[in-house]
Amino acid sequence: MLLEDLRILQQRAENTLDDSDSPEELENWKIKYLGRKGELTHILRGIGSLPKEERSSAGKVSNQVKVALEKIYEEKKRYFDEKQYHDKMMERIDITLPGHPIYQGKLHPSTRILRQIYSIFAPMGFQIFDGPEVETDLYNFELLNMPPHHPARDMWDTFYINKKTLLRTHTSPGQIHAMKYFCPDPIRVILPGKCYRYEAITARSEIMFHQIEGLAVGKSLTMADLKGILVEFAHQMFGDGRKTRFRCSYFPFTEPSVEMDIDCMICKGKGCQICKRTGWLEILGAGIVHPQVLKNGGYDPRVYCGLAFGMGPERIAMLKYGIDDIRHFFSNDLRFLEQFC
Ligand code: PHE
Repeated sequence: MLLEDLRILQQRAENTLDDSDSPEELENWKIKYLGRKGELTHILRGIGSLPKEERSSAGKVSNQVKVALEKIYEEKKRYFDEKQYHDKMMERIDITLPGHPIYQGKLHPSTRILRQIYSIFAPMGFQIFDGPEVETDLYNFELLNMPPHHPARDMWDTFYINKKTLLRTHTSPGQIHAMKYFCPDPIRVILPGKCYRYEAITARSEIMFHQIEGLAVGKSLTMADLKGILVEFAHQMFGDGRKTRFRCSYFPFTEPSVEMDIDCMICKGKGCQICKRTGWLEILGAGIVHPQVLKNGGYDPRVYCGLAFGMGPERIAMLKYGIDDIRHFFSNDLRFLEQFC
């Protein structure tokens, strides 16, 4: 009886295999006949309950059926594999069709502005000098005239790595690095890079942003040189007709200190929301390097004079392109980033 079942099963399996004409059908066939829950397995399970004399011949025949079915399965599988390979080889590729366009990345707006700034200062003799992003308290504050309890530190709160190591809050510590590196030669450098501040993220402030610092040290530099450099920068960056003004300000590391404004390009100086009705937009801080800071960098302030300025490329981009929220820069939304090319 069981031998008869096996013979019928084999016959049926062979017939249906002939009919299967895709690799998927072949796999289904395999599951149906040879799978763990397949028909052959089902029959094999029944062998154990046969009378002893029949068991060995039933086992032998069912094994033969299994081997036979596996063999025809392999043959058919090979047939499909070869066919698939052959079909692929015969596929015609029309090489005259246009290719898929390759998505090309663009420079980040901060990078673009930084590069623009480099190219304005390079012809004036400023070379790029890199400082570390992880700074010591000494460089970020103390050597810039901010001893541990100086109230100005509040403006530059940051992320501390340990008591004496922190993420720099501005690029100004780079002034000290540059002075120590070049002393006693004259200096003309710009120091670009990332800065960090511990503050609430809003449309106007981010915890990470870029700055670019400028430093010139020489024997006959004056405030007039500083103003000349910065007015030229403003004209090249924002257009020839821009008006500029310098306001007195305070930074612990410059004396005197100033801030430079340009006339508001939105309202043309009449007063609007962007310029808070003043008609002016602040673009940078600057000043004459404090004698103590020059000394900290190794220069004798009786012989040398330093000029320094610092600005934020994100702020400059915001003013130049009318961007109303600094958070756009680092939220990685391509709809924003792709507008700058
Ligand atoms: N470091 C100052 C800031 O972060 C800017 C500055 C740089 C001011 C150099 C004067 C001279 O606000």
